[in-house]
Amino acid sequence: MDVANATVFITGANRGLGLAFAREARRRGATKIYAGMRNTGGFDEPGLVPVRIDVTDPATIAAAAEIAADTTLLINNAGIAALIDGPLAVDVEEQSKHMFDTNYHGVIRVTRAFEPVLAAKPSAAIVNVLSDIVWLPRPYLTPYAASKAAVWSYTNQLRFHLRDSGIHVLGLHVGFMDTDLTNGIDVPKAGPEDVARQTYDALGAGKSEIMADTGTILLKSTLADEVPGYIAPPPGLF
Ligand SMILES: NC(=O)c1ccc[n+]([C@@H]2O[C@H](COP(=O)([O-])OP(=O)(O)OC[C@H]3O[C@@H](n4cnc5c(N)ncnc54)[C@H](OP(=O)(O)O)[C@@H]3O)[C@@H](O)[C@H]2O)c1
Repeated sequence: MDVANATVFITGANRGLGLAFAREARRRGATKIYAGMRNTGGFDEPGLVPVRIDVTDPATIAAAAEIAADTTLLINNAGIAALIDGPLAVDVEEQSKHMFDTNYHGVIRVTRAFEPVLAAKPSAAIVNVLSDIVWLPRPYLTPYAASKAAVWSYTNQLRFHLRDSGIHVLGLHVGFMDTDLTNGIDVPKAGPEDVARQTYDALGAGKSEIMADTGTILLKSTLADEVPGYIAPPPGLF
């Protein structure tokens, strides 16, 4: 799918990667860009149409799908993360429920609401924002990692399920990006603008999956090794 001919709906588009997706879609001349966000108050960017959506609130999702019924490209971008003390932390269960509600169930809710909208178009696509964390052990991100691994699995089931429907499904995997989500984590980070560009290029090329930084490319390349990167991360990735 060429973004230039798309009507795009992006969740979590008020900042971070979501805003980068919206601006890059505008730069590429997308037909219309719905910027989904929890709080539309004060959001004012030329060419972006703010739409209220909280991915944990089915009523706002249904309303958004009705407002944006001309959508041809859905980007499930909204997400949250939290740092904890590891897989045995006292708050691991509570945080996992919280992460899953947004990062996993949120994607399912929005996808189910928009699927009839997309299915009515001759050509449509869904981009799910995933992460290198689906493979990389980072114990302090345990609940986040589990939620992203779940949505990676959902993405694969969805792609296969929709394979004859005209709705293309693209999974985006990326490591640390320079957004609010990684404030306080002092590591090299990819630029969200570059990630948005690569994602739209991959969509245009008809790809089903994109690794948007060198660390994630390297990590994925180890998956068939006898000792893959999720057991022994390549040097520099951990
Ligand atoms: N940053 C990274 O290193 C990194 C790496 C890999 C993948 N990702 C993924 O990239 C995506 C975007 O993250 P980001 O880095 O841009 O983080 P961010 O700057 O913290 O932005 C997160 C966005 O998600 C929105 N959001 C959170 N909960 C929501 C909800 N219940 N309903 C609707 N919107 C909600 C936020 O809205 P509010 O402003 O209302 O909070 C915000 O717009 C996420 O899926 C994240 O997991 C990030």
